[in-house]
Amino acid sequence: MASRHKLDFVDAELQAIKQNNLYRELRYGKAQGSHITINGKKLINLCSNDYLGIPTTRIQVSQLQSSSRLVSGNDESYKKLEKILAKHKSQQNSLIYPTGYMANLGSISAIARKGDLILSDELNHTSIIESCKLSDARVLVYKHNDIKDLQTKLKQKGKNKFVITEGIFSMDGDMSKLKQITEISQKTDAITIVDDAHGDFVIGKDGKGTPNYFNVGKKIDMYISSLSKGLGSFGGYVAAKNNVIDLCINRSKSFIYTSALPSFLVEYSLKRFNSNREKQKLKLEKNTKKLTKGLKEIGFKINSKSQIIPIIIGNEKSAMDFGKFLFENGVFAQPIRYPTVPKNQARLRISVTAWLKDKDIEKSLEIFKKAYLKFC
Ligand SMILES: Cc1ncc(COP(=O)(O)O)c(C=O)c1O
Repeated sequence: MASRHKLDFVDAELQAIKQNNLYRELRYGKAQGSHITINGKKLINLCSNDYLGIPTTRIQVSQLQSSSRLVSGNDESYKKLEKILAKHKSQQNSLIYPTGYMANLGSISAIARKGDLILSDELNHTSIIESCKLSDARVLVYKHNDIKDLQTKLKQKGKNKFVITEGIFSMDGDMSKLKQITEISQKTDAITIVDDAHGDFVIGKDGKGTPNYFNVGKKIDMYISSLSKGLGSFGGYVAAKNNVIDLCINRSKSFIYTSALPSFLVEYSLKRFNSNREKQKLKLEKNTKKLTKGLKEIGFKINSKSQIIPIIIGNEKSAMDFGKFLFENGVFAQPIRYPTVPKNQARLRISVTAWLKDKDIEKSLEIFKKAYLKFC
C-alpha cells in the first residue's frame, strides 16, 4: 500500500482548482514604458495599474528604519506626505499604511465595531470584505450600485451605520453612484467610506478622485486609497478627520503590528505627487477614449467609461484561451476569474495607461479584432 503523506490533501485541492480552470501561476516580467517582457517575449502591456505613467523618478535609497511607525520607523518624510494627502482630499489629516489592502483592513476594523451596521456594495474589493469581517460589525451586502436596495437595508438597526463603496470599481470600471449614496447617508446619519484606489489621481480636479468628480468630496467621511495605482508608487492611505486618524493610529492592527513602509518609497510618492500629473492625466484620458472607441467599433460591448475596460467572456476556460491568444499575438491582458469576479463572469480586464503610444493602441486593436473574429 502506497504510504500517505500528511500534505497529500494539498495536491487534491490544487487538482480541484485546475479542473475548474481557476489555477493561477506566477509569471516573471520586466515592464518598460508601454511594454512588458515575459519569457523573452515583448508585449504591449494592457494590465498595469500605473495609470498615469509618470516617468520613472530618481530617488536616493536611504537607510531603512526597520521598525513599526509607533516605534522608530516614523521617518520625517511621512509628516510631509500625510499633510499633502490630507490637503489632496480636503480632510484634516491622513495616515499612510504599507499597502492599500492594509489601509482597508486597519481603518475599517478600527472604526466599525460590534453592534454597528455596515452596508457594503456587492462588488467591493476583497480587502474591504475582509476588513468588514474583522470589524465584528453586522455586514449587509447591497446589490451593486442599487440605491433602492441600499435604502431598504439602511433601515436595519445599528449603533453606528457605515456605507462602504469603491469609487471606480476595480473589475468593472464603472463608477459608484456617489451623489445618491451621500444624500442617503446624510439623511440617515450613516458614515460614508470610499475606497478610491482606482479613481485617485486619475479623475476629478487635480486628480482628487471620484467624489470630487461628482462634486461630493466634502460629504465623504473617510477616504481610503492606494499609492500603487494612479500615482505609480507604493503604499496606501486613509484621509479623514483628526479624531478618526487618531483612532486608526491607536487601533489599526495592520498599522501598529507591522514595519513601516520604507521612507524611500514615501519620498518616491512625494516626488511623483509633485510631478506634472495633469499632463499624464490628459494623456490617459486621450488613450482611454481611443482604445474604448476602437473596441466598440470591433463589436465588443463596453459599458465602462474609465481606464478600466472589462471584456466579459463568461466561461473561465474561454477567458483563458482568449488571454492566451492575445499573449501569443503580442498583447498582455490578464484574464480575471473567480473568486476575483463571480463564477461565469470571467473577463479580460484591460487597463489603459498614459504610457501607451498611438501605435501601441492601434496594434492592440488589430490583435483584438483577430481575437473577436476567433472567439466572439
Ligand atoms: C479597490 C481596491 N482597494 C484596495 C486595493 C489594494 O491596494 P494595494 O495594491 O495598494 O494593496 C486594491 C488593489 O487592487 C483595489 O482594487
